Amino acid sequence: MAKIKIVGVSGSLRQQSFNTALLRNVAGLLPADAELLIYRELAELPLFNPDIDALEATPAVAHWRAALRAADAVIFSTPEYAHGVPGALKNALDWVVGSGELVDKPMLLFSASSSPTGGDKASAHLAGTLQVMTGAIIEGGELCVGSVGKKIDANGRLHDEATITLIQAMLLALLEQIKTNRAAELSMS
Ligand SMILES: Cc1cc2nc3c(=O)[nH]c(=O)nc-3n(C[C@H](O)[C@H](O)[C@H](O)COP(=O)(O)O)c2cc1C
Repeated sequence: MAKIKIVGVSGSLRQQSFNTALLRNVAGLLPADAELLIYRELAELPLFNPDIDALEATPAVAHWRAALRAADAVIFSTPEYAHGVPGALKNALDWVVGSGELVDKPMLLFSASSSPTGGDKASAHLAGTLQVMTGAIIEGGELCVGSVGKKIDANGRLHDEATITLIQAMLLALLEQIKTNRAAELSMS
């Protein structure tokens, strides 16, 4: 079986981002037959414009769409800005509403914040947007990591055992769904 490809999308452009660090830790929790590629080019995307949506608007848009198309699943990890989803992430999602790369795509949603609530409002906004785009959020596949500065150290290592255990369970469910989808695709071909 071809290696399972998961794309990680951090909603933070910050160099020392906890959310990006969380995704790097997730990569280390995956089994050998799966890999997580972190998409780092959200800042290259132009502001969404419906006038040019139907075209492969720019090479950055084409690259973003191709990365999602090639993935078996997507894991988002986002900060909360002013009780919402950061503009860079929302902009990236707007580019794939019409083109449909996230339709039926299995996905997990993480949010990490220095606040104890873990960015729960951003997580809810993100879930609402992805649901309307008909992404397949895994049951129990949303995790808000509060007080993240106490759980990820200065080297970006996630050391909070409870969070690691939760993420491992979520990854198991995600991998199970990917395998089910692949089997269904095979039986149809
Ligand atoms: C402009 C701005 C607005 C923020 N608004 C919120 C907020 O509404 N709720 C929250 O929990 N944290 C808020 N934060 C804190 C970030 O969510 C927190 O610093 C988080 O760790 C940033 O994610 P990152 O480390 O991945 O960049 C805000 C931070 C910034 C810079």
